Amino acid sequence: MSEETAPYGSGAAAPSSEPSPAPVRKVRTHHLREMKERGEPITMLTSYDMYTAQIFDEAGIDLLLVGDSASNNVFGNETSLPVTVDELVPLTRAVARSTRRAMVVGDLPFGSYQASPEQGYLTAVRFMKEGGAHCVKLEGGAEMAPVIRKCVEGGIPVIAHIGFTPQSEHTLGGYRVQGRGDAAERVLADARAVQEAGAFAVVMEMVQADVAAKVSAELEIPTIGIGGGNGCDGQVLVWTDAFGIRTGRMPRFVKQYADVRTVLLDGAKAYRDDVKARTFPGPEHSF
Ligand code: KIV
Repeated sequence: MSEETAPYGSGAAAPSSEPSPAPVRKVRTHHLREMKERGEPITMLTSYDMYTAQIFDEAGIDLLLVGDSASNNVFGNETSLPVTVDELVPLTRAVARSTRRAMVVGDLPFGSYQASPEQGYLTAVRFMKEGGAHCVKLEGGAEMAPVIRKCVEGGIPVIAHIGFTPQSEHTLGGYRVQGRGDAAERVLADARAVQEAGAFAVVMEMVQADVAAKVSAELEIPTIGIGGGNGCDGQVLVWTDAFGIRTGRMPRFVKQYADVRTVLLDGAKAYRDDVKARTFPGPEHSF
C-alpha cells in the first residue's frame, strides 16, 4: 500500500511483500512465576489505546493493564468508581489487538464483581471474550477469594489487588498507606488468601515497604508493587503519571520518566502558529 492510499489514521500494519516479523514468544503466567524464581523483576504499565500498547509492547513491558484508572485518564472522571464494563471492554480490545508479546490484563471495575462469584465470572468472561484480555485483575483480599476461585475454575487467570484498593477509597478513608502496625497482618492474610484461591499474581498498592517485601518473600506467586517499595517481584505504574501527561500532585511512589505533555503542547502550539501565519500547509503538502 502506498503512502497515498494508506487509510487515514491507520496504524495497522500494511500488507506487504516483506517477510512477516519473527513470531514473538507471548508472556504467559508461568513465565512470570519463572521470573520470580530467578529474581528477574516484572514490568507492568497501564495502557488504554492502540498506540501506547504498541509502544510499551515494543519496549518490552511484560504486562499491559487496561486499568479502571481509565476512568480518570480517559473518561475525565475524578475517581475510578464511575467507569463501566461497557466503557473498559473496547479499550481492552484496542490494547489486545495492538500487542504482540505483553500479557494484557482486563481490570474489573467497581460494582462488576463484588455482588457474587457468578457476577465476577460473567464480567471476567466479557473481558476475555469481547476485550481479548489474557487475564483479569480485581481488587480485594480474603473477601474476594470466592470470586477469584470461580474465575480460575472457569479458566480465567486472575491477578488480585490488595493493600490500598482505590475502588474502596471511601471505606478505607482516602488514599492511605496500608500495612502499618497491626494492619501488616491483614495484608499478609489477604496475600495468602488470594494465592490460596488461585490468583497467579498480586498487585500491592501503597503497602509499607517492609511488609510488601515480607509478603513477596513468603508468597510463591509474583507480587507487583505500586508504592510497595523495591522488595516486590515487579512494579506497575500508571502511564500518564510515569510519562508526564497528567498534571497536578503526583503520589510519592511515581517516578516521571518523560514529559510527553510538554512535547504535545509544544507541537500543538507550533501547529497553531504555522496555521495562523499561513506557513502550513506549504507547497509540499498541497496537491
Ligand atoms: O487501574 C489501575 O491503574 C490500577 C493500578 C493502580 C495498579 O489498578
